[in-house]
Amino acid sequence: MKIDWADRVATMEDPAVKMMLKITQRTDIISFAGGLPSAKTFPVDRLAAAYTAVLEEQGGAALQYSLAEGYPPLRELLARRLGRSGIACKPENIVITSGSQQAIDFIGRLLLNPGDLIAVENPAYLAALQPFRSYQASFLPVPMDNEGMDVDALARQVKKVRPKFIYVNPTFQNPTGITLSLERRRRLGELAASQEILLLEDNPYGELRFGGADIPSIKSLADSDWAMYTGTFSKVIAPGLRVGWFVAHPEIAAKVTAAKQLNDILTNSLTQRALHRLLTDNDLDAHIATIIGQYRRQRDAMLAALAAYFPGCVSWTQPEGGMFIWVTLPSGLDARELLNKAIDEEKVAFVPGTPFHTDGGGHNTFRLSFANTGEAEIASGIARLGALLARNV
Ligand SMILES: Cc1ncc(COP(=O)(O)O)c(C=O)c1O
Repeated sequence: MKIDWADRVATMEDPAVKMMLKITQRTDIISFAGGLPSAKTFPVDRLAAAYTAVLEEQGGAALQYSLAEGYPPLRELLARRLGRSGIACKPENIVITSGSQQAIDFIGRLLLNPGDLIAVENPAYLAALQPFRSYQASFLPVPMDNEGMDVDALARQVKKVRPKFIYVNPTFQNPTGITLSLERRRRLGELAASQEILLLEDNPYGELRFGGADIPSIKSLADSDWAMYTGTFSKVIAPGLRVGWFVAHPEIAAKVTAAKQLNDILTNSLTQRALHRLLTDNDLDAHIATIIGQYRRQRDAMLAALAAYFPGCVSWTQPEGGMFIWVTLPSGLDARELLNKAIDEEKVAFVPGTPFHTDGGGHNTFRLSFANTGEAEIASGIARLGALLARNV
């Protein structure tokens, strides 16, 4: 079939992502590749009870079309919860989205004309780059170090070129696990406000902290209308629910609501109500504490195995939360070639770093997830990767 697809379609499929998804389906492989949370943490029974209670008590109303911006009691609950984390907001600042992925896509759709520039961390969250690419945007890759995005470098670039917005995943970043320092958060918020550049802070992992002191969000520090924020229940309850939230000035929230109306009318109404019920009847923080306990053990197992089995010329990040560790190989090694050998020779998988980079770099880097693999398998998988590395460095 010869179909005349729109130009943007060419940017939608990334062969690296396709391969990664394929690998996650294979049962004969220890996969550190996927970004999936552990299904063991999903509160299945409590969700079943919440859905049943909503259907019994609310009947057809729970299954009806409803407001595009989301179920008002859930927005009120989120406004209170965000307020406790320092983000002062009202329900009219909040739009419930079908995952934070939808909020990211809408911001691209609402702001980007072909050729517009977006400032992103280098490396950045791959599945944000893809929708931005589909709007034919270009990227301003901002270098990172162990304190996250180099905000001074961004400030220097902004003097020369003007990005349409800044997209940043500052806490336990996907893919590196790195957290932007407090000082840089302040400066980034100030830069966005003083230059009148919108900033989207994407924070799916912030509540999954295993160690170190809490760092406030950029949104709470900036207290500026130029700072936008998105969060999600995907990593603290379950991703299959597809419920996230977007927080911004009411004028921006109204535009996101308009985009939502055109796209999917509203986020699944029954699920929004069940989530509200779940969060009213249960202690979300206690639930998050159990996820943290499990992920901390798995992170510790992975860090211990990396120290035990990886050659001295390889380095990696030490995340204080989230799901990912970022590995840097000696510069002569290509992580994509290593992945082919890892799958064939050792039956272990990871994600090579190149697709996360918008400057074409990162060939000697890769991402490991510790979230969805038990401690024993982590030790065995990392030992196997270590043996492969010893044969190849
Ligand atoms: C940095 C980042 N942003 C957004 C998302 C999308 O999450 P959601 O399931 O809420 O759409 C993910 C998912 O892995 C992520 O890692």
